[in-house]
Amino acid sequence: MTIDATGSTVTDEAVRSLDTTADPRLRELLTGLVRHLHAYVRETGLTQREWERAIGFLTATGQACTGTRQEFVMLSDVLGVSMLVEEVNSPDDPAATASTVLGPFHVTESPVRAPDATIDLAGGGEPCVVDLRVRSADGTPLPGATVDVWQADGNGFYDVQRPDAQPPGNGRGLFTADAEGRVRFRSCVPSAYPIPTDGPVGVLLRAAGRHPYRPAHIHFVVTAKGHVPLTTHLFVAGGDYLDSDAVFAVRPSLVREFVRTEDPALARTFGLTGAFRLTRFDLVLERT
Ligand code: BEZ
Ligand code: FE
Repeated sequence: MTIDATGSTVTDEAVRSLDTTADPRLRELLTGLVRHLHAYVRETGLTQREWERAIGFLTATGQACTGTRQEFVMLSDVLGVSMLVEEVNSPDDPAATASTVLGPFHVTESPVRAPDATIDLAGGGEPCVVDLRVRSADGTPLPGATVDVWQADGNGFYDVQRPDAQPPGNGRGLFTADAEGRVRFRSCVPSAYPIPTDGPVGVLLRAAGRHPYRPAHIHFVVTAKGHVPLTTHLFVAGGDYLDSDAVFAVRPSLVREFVRTEDPALARTFGLTGAFRLTRFDLVLERT
């Protein structure tokens, strides 16, 4: 460690250089970052060559980002940082639905959809009906709440990943809860899929000998007046990778059965014939 004549280390000097930061929260965040980065370098004995590799990796991560690809979010996800941020900011109310990561595919505006609409525009996979209730932690339904939904298709790809094979907005929808706080829509049963591995994050996963798969899920961002917005997933029970999600985002309370259902009247409501899968999920929001 380099120590100057006054007994000060480069860490002390770098931290002191931030004393003039006007915003106290920004000062706290920058000071913590410098302290932890310096501790990391000391603890690992980081070499010059390793530092250059790290800078090259972060540069490539930035260069891989586009309007529809967020490699930095994925890097945060596979290192468990995104999920830790969720956990640190979890709702205090134990009755509220657990939150989980946003992920990198909430990159386009979801099309506004009517009640009971389908979000499976390509008609690919096994049909399912998703029946949601949005309510406050005290049980009160939340009419007018908005539920933004996005999911991969039956082959495990989001619309923005396969613009040649999927129409824009496939697997996406923006719904408004009815007088009972209910939102229903038709989709296809999601499947497990690998996160994109053709960029720097893939290089990292391969170097670590890790698989890139996420268990089957549907994403939601839920907003309602007077409540904390909720970012969460619904996971398909019984699927692969529930215990080894590449981004550490599974919470057992978010796993639901997709039950095989034969109900001709309900099927007709959703333009279906024959059997389909039905899942029910409560989205419970904490008051602000
Ligand atoms: C996703 O669920 O869409 C996702 C989350 C983290 C990394 C990659 C994909
Ligand atoms: Fe996803």
